[in-house]
Amino acid sequence: MSLSYQYSEKNREKQVKSTFRCSSNIALVKYWGKKPEGIQLPANPSISFTLKDLYTETTVSVLGANTSGAPEFDFLFEGQPKPSFIPKLTDFFNRILPDYAILREFYLQINTSNNFPHGTGIASSASGFGALACCLAELEQVHTGQPVSIEKISKTARLGSGSACRSMFELPAIWGAHPLVKGSNDEYAIPFKSNIHEVFTDMMDAVLIVDAGEKSVSSTVGHGLLKGNPYASARYEEATLHLTEICTALETGNMTDFIRIVEQEALQLHAMMMLSNPYFILMRPATLSVIEALWAFRKETKIPVMFTLDAGANVHLLFPGIHNQQVKNFIEGQLLDYCQNRQYFCSAIGSAPIPIQ
Ligand code: PMV
Repeated sequence: MSLSYQYSEKNREKQVKSTFRCSSNIALVKYWGKKPEGIQLPANPSISFTLKDLYTETTVSVLGANTSGAPEFDFLFEGQPKPSFIPKLTDFFNRILPDYAILREFYLQINTSNNFPHGTGIASSASGFGALACCLAELEQVHTGQPVSIEKISKTARLGSGSACRSMFELPAIWGAHPLVKGSNDEYAIPFKSNIHEVFTDMMDAVLIVDAGEKSVSSTVGHGLLKGNPYASARYEEATLHLTEICTALETGNMTDFIRIVEQEALQLHAMMMLSNPYFILMRPATLSVIEALWAFRKETKIPVMFTLDAGANVHLLFPGIHNQQVKNFIEGQLLDYCQNRQYFCSAIGSAPIPIQ
């Protein structure tokens, strides 16, 4: 597979920076739990939609020569130093060091920003590590003259944040080995290869900001709590079955099955949190109020709008774009009281990473 972007031979000598936009993604079948062996390998397969309008833009610039052979970098978030991100980035760079000559040879500066406000509870790790992986790949490609495959970029993103490996595709992305999905594997994500039924091609996601605060339990800790959890193996089997079922629904246009699987997945994810030891709950009372209001709205209007959840309290409403206006009226009329600062963000699905000139 070739890269979806080209670099100019003319700039080969001169290129000292790379900028990419990479979108966030929302899992339909959730990744929750890692394999005991390897680094950041999923215990079950997952599938996601990329969220076109919620993205990170990152520039990686070469500032000079590396003097130690270890990763040397500055990190700026919206133009300002952000020391709290340095340990996670250092771990990430150390993981990928053998694969990236630029990390051993140059002192880099990373400057990143999101188009959604910080502190809304919308995870930026997928879009952030996705954008960073694209920039590093482009610089590496220019520096070494060797093409960097999309598989390697996805794998690189995964080593920063597991779910980031799925942000590489316009189409739904599948990550994790599944016996019935050809090419699926734990190392990197692949695009959904079959035709997607037209009822799913214009899906939208409205993210309702129920709680904008820091999560009380991080994803890293949450994944770790599946180790020794007596329910974990049943959950992994369920996810595998759901992936089979959702692939069929995406092809055939079976919206009823699609809704059931997406909502079951969201609730199973949070059920696993409650079944952990120590147990924890990331939903808030308003999360449940939104879900109940949504179920009543769907029953009354028959509009195929469904919810899903990430590892947090915010609620994602997924629906076909033709119902945009009705869903918008529903959100603004009935749901904004449950949202912090009455905030929500809407995105279409799709969009692979985009190079920015
Ligand atoms: O990529 P991580 O380690 O932040 O894990 C993300 C896990 C979920 O968002 C809860 C589910 C998923 O598949 O994206």
